[in-house]
Amino acid sequence: MSAIKTHPDANSLAHAAATHIMALAEAAIAAHDHFSIALSGGSTPRATYERLALYTRLGAQGEVPLTLDWGRVHVFWGDERCVPPDDAASNYRLAHDAWLEHTPIPPGNVHRIRGELDPERAADEYEAELRAFFGPTPRFDLILLGLGEDGHTASLFPGTAALHETARWVVAHCVAGVPQPWRVTLTPPALNAAANVIFLVAGAGKAARLKQVLQGTLQPDVLPAQIVQPGVGRLLWLVDVAAASLL
Ligand code: 6PG
Repeated sequence: MSAIKTHPDANSLAHAAATHIMALAEAAIAAHDHFSIALSGGSTPRATYERLALYTRLGAQGEVPLTLDWGRVHVFWGDERCVPPDDAASNYRLAHDAWLEHTPIPPGNVHRIRGELDPERAADEYEAELRAFFGPTPRFDLILLGLGEDGHTASLFPGTAALHETARWVVAHCVAGVPQPWRVTLTPPALNAAANVIFLVAGAGKAARLKQVLQGTLQPDVLPAQIVQPGVGRLLWLVDVAAASLL
């Protein structure tokens, strides 16, 4: 099942994403006592993380009816650049600075990919952590994704072998021509086992690629974002009008 929701601008997109995430979290906690979310890097998610930080604060002050039992929220990442956690390019650092340090999520619930390690080891350790948490199926309550201008998502880039991975949930690879070329990423089987996947896409620079991904020929080797088709989960594209202008 998939849907596209268009918002007037990047700010209202961030607001919609943050409130939707909190609603999914509330429902997951009511249903099975915890909420597992995998975060993305990128500038579009950053705006959403900042909203989540704002709504956490306003909720705690009783100024908006948005409160969550943060102790039941578990945070993961969909991908990471192989850099230390305090590096400006770290996806962990992005989420930490924009959101996590402003919430009472217990440190033990923050399951980061250890980008400072040897990449293969970081991938193996992260997969072991996911298997310990999820058991046989990595059913994240929510995975947040961005869309790169080249059609990549998470750190699944065009033409990479990772797109054909069927067994491992996490792989490390070196991708020529991208910043911080060593990456650790969830694989298609892990992405597609999620209960919910939300793509956040904003800006005119994404318009042509978004049209190709959503309305063009299915060719995930060229357009990796097309590989995301959660079997029993829901796929939602939250986009702004600029990104949606060619649809
Ligand atoms: C990464 C991200 C990546 C990102 C897209 C979109 O680590 O590079 O996870 O997949 O989400 O490149 O990024 P923007 O929102 O900045 O365009």
